[in-house]
Amino acid sequence: MTHVALGITGASGALYAVRTLAALLATGATVELVISDYGRRLFRDELGPEAAIDRLPAYLTTRWGSAVERGRLIVHSNKDLGASIASGSQSCEAMVIVPCSMKTLAGIAHGLSRSLIERAADVMLKERRPLVIVPRETPLSLPQLKNLVLCAEAGAIVVPAMPAFYQQPATIDDLGDFMAGKILSVLGVPHTLYPAWTGEVAAQAPSPGAAARR
Ligand SMILES: Cc1cc2nc3c(=O)[nH]c(=O)nc-3n(C[C@H](O)[C@H](O)[C@H](O)COP(=O)(O)O)c2cc1C
Repeated sequence: MTHVALGITGASGALYAVRTLAALLATGATVELVISDYGRRLFRDELGPEAAIDRLPAYLTTRWGSAVERGRLIVHSNKDLGASIASGSQSCEAMVIVPCSMKTLAGIAHGLSRSLIERAADVMLKERRPLVIVPRETPLSLPQLKNLVLCAEAGAIVVPAMPAFYQQPATIDDLGDFMAGKILSVLGVPHTLYPAWTGEVAAQAPSPGAAARR
């Protein structure tokens, strides 16, 4: 997977977004990034001002090392419906929306294309390319549940923001690693973000992050 669109919306879970972005860039991929207005607000609230979009490359390198510089980051405005990823003729192989708000989920479920994130997602569905949606809300209303089903029926892969605990996470970063790893897995991208389940309890197989801190 060398060319991926990444949408970030105003649901809680900015860590999942930056960890996924860093992991994709570290593979050498080109990432076409779109962040909604509320996505930017959640970035600031949850990650701090150092993760502002104009400082994002430096933030990623500081947190996850120079490997992220292998990739190429292209940033689009969510208002730019003329951006490359708004068209089916662009070459993105897949799109991830992490975290995905219930508002953007509804827009995708009903094909509204009100923003670049919604339009690019619509393009992925019509072109039959992988669209990974990482919803975050709790509890879920019936309309939200129905919107998840509509997206899944249209071909989207729904990866709920539900980190597991069998890998014995020691820090919040371990939870971010787990969700980013799940997203890369469904994209078919090899990674070592969490240990593969071996049938053994996690005491014998700590997460890579937890092992490094021991
Ligand atoms: C602090 C904060 C946390 C939020 N968390 C969520 C959330 O977890 N899930 C969600 O669907 N919406 C959440 N919202 C509401 C969305 O940000 C809001 O519906 C927004 O219009 C989404 O727009 P977007 O999809 O264009 O980013 C949150 C809003 C704020 C201010």
